[in-house]
Amino acid sequence: MKMLYSKTFAMLICLFCLIYTGFVYHESSDKPIPYPEGYRYWTHVKTAIIGPENHSAVRFQGIHHIYANDKAMKGYATGKFPDGSIIVFDLLETSVETTSDILEGDRKFIDVMIKDSHRYDSTGGWGFEEFNGNSLTERNILHLSKSKCFNCHAKKSSSDFVFSSFRK
Ligand code: HEC
Repeated sequence: MKMLYSKTFAMLICLFCLIYTGFVYHESSDKPIPYPEGYRYWTHVKTAIIGPENHSAVRFQGIHHIYANDKAMKGYATGKFPDGSIIVFDLLETSVETTSDILEGDRKFIDVMIKDSHRYDSTGGWGFEEFNGNSLTERNILHLSKSKCFNCHAKKSSSDFVFSSFRK
């Protein structure tokens, strides 16, 4: 009888542990990528203009700027981005004021990459997210980062999945 009790007790503990670890794991992997507050004060890596003839124009047409935090700047220098690196791709509409000048228009979205090799090991150690327009909370990607972002960035495995480079 005593044996039966201790067995049942042990089984209950195991069940509790399973539910608990499942809950904690689920919670941490689902935590959304935070909005990169203040990124416009970070290092400006580069700017480019994508024109209407580009095969990705539907999505990327406009002026984009790329910004990196201090940790990501170490990655641009060494080719290996440490955990905590954050890079932001800031895409703006073009606003054609005269026939010769192209200025920045409204923000289309920002794309964010954040390095946490443990948490995002299935996507090269990078978490990917997109924030719509000027919104700090409207996320377009959530759990679709592999198909919507990483499958293309995977081409750049030789430079830690980062396309751009920093020119001094
Ligand atoms: C079709 C390919 C493709 C897809 C899909 C794509 N990217 Fe990129 N991404 C690029 C290219 C090319 C650059 C470099 C642009 C430049 O150098 O001006 C880039 C640059 C970036 C950068 C700046 C760091 C770097 O790699 O140069 C970030 C951040 C970024 N993308 C995030 C994302 C996110 C988030 C998604 C998904 C919403 C995404 N990307 C989807 C091709 C892609």
